[in-house]
Amino acid sequence: MADQIEQILVRYPQGDRGFLIPLLQEVQESYGYISPEAVDEIGDFAKVSPGEIFGVASFYSQFRFTKPGEHTIKVCLGTACHVRGSARLLELLEHQLKIKAGQTTPNEKFSLEHVACFGCCALAPVVVVDKQVHGRMSSTKAQKLLKKYGD
Ligand code: FES
Repeated sequence: MADQIEQILVRYPQGDRGFLIPLLQEVQESYGYISPEAVDEIGDFAKVSPGEIFGVASFYSQFRFTKPGEHTIKVCLGTACHVRGSARLLELLEHQLKIKAGQTTPNEKFSLEHVACFGCCALAPVVVVDKQVHGRMSSTKAQKLLKKYGD
């Protein structure tokens, strides 16, 4: 991974913290997350401490610092989905998977996230697994999804 990160770093000016966000975005796009090693390498390169990197990244919900699971489940908590019970769905999934939103199961099968709106509110409540949209979600359907993707 270190070599591949270097290939990204060489395209940026060394020691210029102004490029930190695009750099983090590119690493995340390539690897799906920003590993501890990547944080160190980016920090060395941009002359920014790991603490500052986490601080900057915490303003942007797009960044993740843990390896995503095989399947990523995203629950919409936007208004239309919320009024149709999506918070309860998220709770149910957290309970079933024994993780909180933003975490990955210990077996690395599932990551759980919440988003503000997928832009398909007519299908509320919406859950997206990987890139597949599942509309009009119910707790029964959510259980079936876990079974389907868990096997
Ligand atoms: S509010 Fe959930 S898709 Fe828009």
